Amino acid sequence: MTREERNITWQQSSLDRQEREHRNGHRSRTLWFTGLSGAGKSSLAFALEKHLYDAGIRCYVLDGDNVRHGLNRDLGFTATDRQENLRRIGEVSKLMVDAGLIVLSAFISPHAEDREMVKQLFEPGDFIEIYVRCSIEECERRDPKGLYKKARNGDIPHFTGISAPYDVPEEPSLVIDTELLSLDEAVAEIVRHLEQTDSLQ
Ligand code: PPS
Repeated sequence: MTREERNITWQQSSLDRQEREHRNGHRSRTLWFTGLSGAGKSSLAFALEKHLYDAGIRCYVLDGDNVRHGLNRDLGFTATDRQENLRRIGEVSKLMVDAGLIVLSAFISPHAEDREMVKQLFEPGDFIEIYVRCSIEECERRDPKGLYKKARNGDIPHFTGISAPYDVPEEPSLVIDTELLSLDEAVAEIVRHLEQTDSLQ
């Protein structure tokens, strides 16, 4: 159904994103963290959030586990549900970018097609894809929530890396290897990238 058929009209605010960015003193962006469960997406996003916050930057983390407690509590882990999960988060991230924030979205987002769908919601340059790389062996060794153990026992269906696929990003904006970098080094690497792309000005 078209918007007309749904009787929906876009309502224009008297403020725009540029004014909000100006007030905040920095650009707004979505940093999209993708990677296996246990790769370190959430730890990295929250550590970066604290670093940026301390530097006076307005930012917010959208985290897979947390969003599935509320907004997306109706969704599971089939390919269709993951796609809808990411579509909603993509739209929320876009609203937050319009609000002038740096959004840190940390989701497994295993399908290249879904990541591309989210990327297409944004203007070029507003979406920064960060591949949080960690081998499945190391993720399984870390197993911070005991989920790999459960998945190996057959207690979790469609578990990414075990019984569901993960498409390695082909051309991410940045790769952070959590087997090689400490948390502080990883945060510094992302901040460097944000500075190089003028995202913090
Ligand atoms: S997705 O694929 O992007 O829609 O997943 P996401 O919203 O990021 O949710 C991932 C977190 O959900 C927990 N969990 C699972 N992960 C993968 N596969 C299955 N089947 C699954 N069931 C529950 C798990 O805690 C994930 O969090 P992280 O932080 O990635 O470990």
